[in-house]
Amino acid sequence: MNGNLIVRNAAELVTCSGFSAKSGLEMQDLKVIPNGAVVVREGVIAAVGSTGEILDGFDQSGFTVIDAENRAVLPGFVDSHTHFVFGGYRADEFSWRLRGDSYMDIMQRGGGIVSTVAATRAASKDQLIGAGLKRLDSMLTFGVTTVEGKSGYGLDSETEIRQLEAMAEIDSIHPVDVVRTFLGAHAVPADYCNREDDFIDFLVCDVLPVIAERKLAEFCDIFCEKNVFSIQQSRRLLLKAREYGLKLKIHADEIFRTGGAELAAELGAVSADHLLQASDAGIVEMARKGVICTLLPATAFSLREPYARGRFMIDSGCAVALASDMNPGSCFTESIPLIVALSTLYMEITPEEAVTALTINGAAALGRADTIGSIDVGKRGDLAVHEFPSYRFIPYHLAVSTVERVIKNGNIVWTK
Ligand code: NIG
Ligand code: FE
Repeated sequence: MNGNLIVRNAAELVTCSGFSAKSGLEMQDLKVIPNGAVVVREGVIAAVGSTGEILDGFDQSGFTVIDAENRAVLPGFVDSHTHFVFGGYRADEFSWRLRGDSYMDIMQRGGGIVSTVAATRAASKDQLIGAGLKRLDSMLTFGVTTVEGKSGYGLDSETEIRQLEAMAEIDSIHPVDVVRTFLGAHAVPADYCNREDDFIDFLVCDVLPVIAERKLAEFCDIFCEKNVFSIQQSRRLLLKAREYGLKLKIHADEIFRTGGAELAAELGAVSADHLLQASDAGIVEMARKGVICTLLPATAFSLREPYARGRFMIDSGCAVALASDMNPGSCFTESIPLIVALSTLYMEITPEEAVTALTINGAAALGRADTIGSIDVGKRGDLAVHEFPSYRFIPYHLAVSTVERVIKNGNIVWTK
């Protein structure tokens, strides 16, 4: 695996060029190069342009050459919000939801997240690694080359750490890169029932210092929601996390409007995620502070909740990212095409904006817009060859993946 690769004659080389999040109108411009080519040398993009321009007279020996005639080539997708490492499943809960039980009702009667917590506590690290690897295999087939993964199914020191260690190991053996987030404040465990403040104390005093010292996570997140963790509790945990050098994310305004968007802006979080119920003022503040709005339409779909106001967010000048939220409860899917379908058909997000949201803005939501998320010289050679001549086929081929081949660091890692 030398990471030397050339893609030539791409009908569209969809570069998404840029080194930071794109907001508002900028999200429309994909910076497409017709009949494009890209050269990757030792895993890093070395040249980008039209095929004639960069390959005439170029010595191609020692390079794997892909002729992408009649195909669109895009950056690998960045799935910037997932919970892909967990034990057990919750198919029973899905049936209860179909019968009319709400996600929060199930959670309040002791199901939901805490039932996955029991299964995850019972799982060994090897079992978590095995299950996580399979899910990454599936994500790779959708053209995903980097994912974020959250803890949050331990709610105790030992299991939270085991989940993060499992992700570190998965990252080292699977082609898809994994960015780790500590979500110890995902739910209130039974032994802290009605003692949410004490649980936050426990996380702050006993768990965060270990996570930070052992560099087990880059981000800290919290489920800020009515009957889970309040704005005050969220602020307290996140401020501490920041003191420990972690970057911030918030599960904000998902089911009820609690002011999570405003808190994300106040704290300068890298992203606020879900945002189904975010207020106008919160959205304007996020635009002003450059907080990325990470929208998870497959979750709204699966929970039969109203979609986040993606159009209004972009028109207000926000940078929007799209992600799967892959998890065993509210949204058990790795499907990028489903997200594209829902965002374009129901959230008034254009195909161009959806592509930006899944590439450079996803990378920015992980603090990696300088190294991934676009086809630019100096970035990692993470690419996907799609079977049709234009990115416009991605939403058009409804909920079916158009990805034919995936390249990570200049090596072909998946072929249909
Ligand atoms: O992002 N909302 C909170 N957390 C996850 C769901 C986790 C679960 O149900 O297991 C989410 O939707
Ligand atoms: Fe989530």
